[in-house]
Amino acid sequence: MDDLLGFVSPPGCGLGRPLILKALTGSTNDDARALASAGAGHGTVVLADAQTAGRGRLGRAWCSPAGENLYLSVVWRSGLDAIEPPLLALGAGLAVSEALDGFTPTPTAVKWPNDVRHRGRKLAGLLAEAIYRGTQPSAVILGLGVNVRGAVMPEAIAEIATSLRIVRGDDPGRAPVLSSLLEHLDATLGRLCAEGFGAIRQRLIERCENIGARVSIGEVSGVAIDIDPAGALRVRDDQGVVHAVRAGEIR
Ligand code: BTN
Repeated sequence: MDDLLGFVSPPGCGLGRPLILKALTGSTNDDARALASAGAGHGTVVLADAQTAGRGRLGRAWCSPAGENLYLSVVWRSGLDAIEPPLLALGAGLAVSEALDGFTPTPTAVKWPNDVRHRGRKLAGLLAEAIYRGTQPSAVILGLGVNVRGAVMPEAIAEIATSLRIVRGDDPGRAPVLSSLLEHLDATLGRLCAEGFGAIRQRLIERCENIGARVSIGEVSGVAIDIDPAGALRVRDDQGVVHAVRAGEIR
């Protein structure tokens, strides 16, 4: 992990101070959760070269080989009295997509709620987990996996996933991608917390590949028409009934 040794968060960026770099861990989300529970401040980042128990959404495993990708978790504390954790997760997906556009030949897109994809293949995934004190979240752990340097995807996910290396034809290096991710997360989520979801909603709708397309999610099938002010995906079914879907995975 020589390329990440000595990494310093970009000047003015509120995330990555401190940045704790580990050669190997179970899950950076678990590490960040433990640190946050012990009082770690806003912007603390745990980054691992490899994970033995990387976790994805919906109880899936996140394949985390050494030397290839970015596996990081950010402790987010700011503005949680005003912004609910699911909106923070939506904003994070938008920020990651915008950051990765700096490294892809054509724009990335968000698959609602927060997968980042390039030409229909997944480049990055986000696992947001809130820590509650009573009924109020005291921190949200934003866990991010970004496929960066792999020249060939593992066979099991080759049809559905890709890497920056594959879409560009060369390796952009993990450190520049990490810098850009931290800057975009800081700026976009900072704005979200200060001004509310309305400040970023249109950007997200424009970047969401599902809007205008047919989707099936949970019990609902129809055409996704937009993302409502609460962050739900609005789907018009074949009877013309509009459903606001708050969670789930689009099939
Ligand atoms: C998904 O798309 O299912 C979310 C994947 C999130 C993976 C990242 S890797 C860093 C952090 N630590 C984990 O165990 N998971 C997240």
